[in-house]
Amino acid sequence: MEKQQTLLELQNVEKSFNNINVIKKINLKIKKGEIVVIIGPSGSGKSTILRCMNLLENIDSGDIIFENKSLIKNKKNIDKIREKIGMVFQNFNLFENKNIIDNLRLAPIKVKKENFDEVTKRALILLKKVELEDKKFSFPKELSGGQKQRIAIARSLCMNPDILLFDEPTSALDPEMVKEVLDVIKQIAKDGMTMVIVTHEMKFAKEIADRIIFIDDGQIVEENSPDEIFTNPKTKRAKEFFEKML
Ligand SMILES: Nc1ncnc2c1ncn2[C@@H]1O[C@H](COP(=O)(O)OP(=O)(O)OP(=O)(O)O)[C@@H](O)[C@H]1O
Ligand SMILES: [Mg+2]
Repeated sequence: MEKQQTLLELQNVEKSFNNINVIKKINLKIKKGEIVVIIGPSGSGKSTILRCMNLLENIDSGDIIFENKSLIKNKKNIDKIREKIGMVFQNFNLFENKNIIDNLRLAPIKVKKENFDEVTKRALILLKKVELEDKKFSFPKELSGGQKQRIAIARSLCMNPDILLFDEPTSALDPEMVKEVLDVIKQIAKDGMTMVIVTHEMKFAKEIADRIIFIDDGQIVEENSPDEIFTNPKTKRAKEFFEKML
């Protein structure tokens, strides 16, 4: 696939909870290799949008097109499709009763039925990439928050996804651990992974994003390159928000 090709598209996506419309006709295209950062106030619908992208959240109307296939029309294959859409959460969600290398190996072997030795080889390369090779036989409880998140990222990558979704990957971390996780994400970006990242880290967003989406009240209010949107926001709402954040 070429870089300009759309990998994932939200078409008129709407989602309500208890009759409250939290996502309002969102249209969004993520291109192959693109890094899109979603920014917006608390409760504006950022996590919900991410969760809609792999149908972890059922949508009320609209469609999600991933690799030219409608997820709505392919709901019965959704587990297979989700193998290609990695997700990294605020709270890591590691398997506490498994050691680190087994955390990475579990899904590729159990779900994708991949060969043990091949997965092991890949897992070790990824652990090296996140600089935690020496922790391969440790258990999650023996790791710091920053280390756990780096493992969670390596685990997602071990599935060989086509896109990675991050929902505030550093917001549960102590400040001194934020940088090590952001550095790992930057490294993966350099490798060409397509990513959608929800974050409140403005400096990081500025550095990493090809495009920033500012959402408020379930709608895309403004989208632009980081340089444009931070220095010259077009809407009053974005301007007010960035003034508070920067
Ligand atoms: N499972 C749910 N049931 C009911 N309401 C929900 C549910 N999930 C989200 N909401 C509501 O939908 C709105 C959007 O929530 P969402 O978690 O997507 O916001 P967010 O932008 O990620 O916020 P934050 O920055 O605090 O993480 C909020 O009003 C929230 O209360
Ligand atoms: Mg959220």
